[in-house]
Amino acid sequence: MLRRSSPLAGLVAAGLTFTIAPPAAPTAQASTGSGAYTAGSAGLGDPYFPHAGNGGYDVGHYTIRLRFTPKTRHLSATTTITATATKNLSRFDLDFSGPTIGKVEVNGERASYTRKGQELVVTPRHGLPSGKTFTVEVSYAGRPKAIKDKALGVTGWIDTEDGAVVLAEPDGARSWFPANDNPRDKATYTLEVTAPEGLTVLANGEPGNSGVAGPRDGYRTSKWEMRHPMASYLAMVAIGKFTVSRGTVDGMPNITAYDPSLAKEFKRLHGTTAKAIRWESEIFGDYPFSSTGGVADRLGIYYALETQGRPVYDTGMSDELTIVHELAHQWFGDSVGLRSWKDIWLNEGFASYAEWLYQEQHGGPSADTTFAKHYKHKAGSAFWKLKTGDPGRTGMFDWNAIYVRGAMTVHALRKKIGDETFFTLLRTWTKEHRHSSVTTKDLIALAERLSGQDLDDLFDAWLYTAAKPKL
Ligand code: TRP
Ligand code: ZN
Repeated sequence: MLRRSSPLAGLVAAGLTFTIAPPAAPTAQASTGSGAYTAGSAGLGDPYFPHAGNGGYDVGHYTIRLRFTPKTRHLSATTTITATATKNLSRFDLDFSGPTIGKVEVNGERASYTRKGQELVVTPRHGLPSGKTFTVEVSYAGRPKAIKDKALGVTGWIDTEDGAVVLAEPDGARSWFPANDNPRDKATYTLEVTAPEGLTVLANGEPGNSGVAGPRDGYRTSKWEMRHPMASYLAMVAIGKFTVSRGTVDGMPNITAYDPSLAKEFKRLHGTTAKAIRWESEIFGDYPFSSTGGVADRLGIYYALETQGRPVYDTGMSDELTIVHELAHQWFGDSVGLRSWKDIWLNEGFASYAEWLYQEQHGGPSADTTFAKHYKHKAGSAFWKLKTGDPGRTGMFDWNAIYVRGAMTVHALRKKIGDETFFTLLRTWTKEHRHSSVTTKDLIALAERLSGQDLDDLFDAWLYTAAKPKL
């Protein structure tokens, strides 16, 4: 679902659109849509990920049904997408780099398809009229592979010793399901996972109504529902041996799990999650989802990820501030999502600043002290080299430019507008853009509205100048 309408056509970078296909024969209902039937675009114009995301439709819901056998690493899956055409479509693209496709159906009829790089190009028998909802069903099987990128790390389907974990920032969703893989097209999800009896499955959201089914033939099926809009990179499934804790935070389910061999490191995950959510709800406003939790496993990826409602932690990522950081992303990044990856500082700057605030309010150094420590970096040093507001694809997770200077930008804003306006801004931002997607411009506009100040110079200096800002 696209929460903000935008002239998509204007955003599609030149050269990315497919040449116009001959119009498909309209269906009986097609009389509602006027104009020719043309192909949807193969990208959404994200300068860092031109192929990620697709134009011409808007996904409402994904149902991903999969069966995984850790011993053989075999996956068989069917993903059903409910989408709405935003123009008369003769064909459309999905992003998919997963295993061999068995068949593709659109509205229950066999559709033809081709695969080119990460694009799965689907041509339905009948054109899809603008404004109409349609379903796409893709069945596939084989051995899924993680996506390895020098700058972006390992994402997608990640095998573990006793199962697998999937997480996908920024563009790894395509490794395990066909998606409109762009953060601005959020959708709800049903995740139905069949795994050998004796293993546990966790995913985003809450266990579905039918809960766990089976065992049948030695397999059990677990269903999880994410009922709030979610970006494809935040979809998560974890399969393996897990020690699970179930509790509540202010009446809301808190479901955490760790690989039993990580008991020593992660025994506090459950309690720290509850504590962080309580504190963050006070600072940032109402928690945006209907359950919380966390999953810790041995992944070898060296990071944690804010997968929606239930972050994933690799071994080594168990400290309190990391948990505070991933849970802060539930407001900043997950609920208030990105329209474009170059604004990644909006995610990481605010989540990192949550760590500064948490320390300030829990007997640690003040945010002023933390800021001053980093501000000591000399003008001209590599610390100030990238633009925080446009770091380039390979700079997206640059520690200095995005995490530290992102948080410094937030602090500079706080000093400029004052504490009262700043804390109002945090709550207004998460409330006004809840379950939506934003740009830096939206933040500047809100900060200017609430403070009555012109803040262009401040944001120019902190985000769009590759130099040490003056204070
Ligand atoms: N977004 C994650 C976090 O800050 C971190 C992350 C995701 C990351 N992918 C990465 C860090 C790749 C380095 C490299 O919580
Ligand atoms: Zn982060």
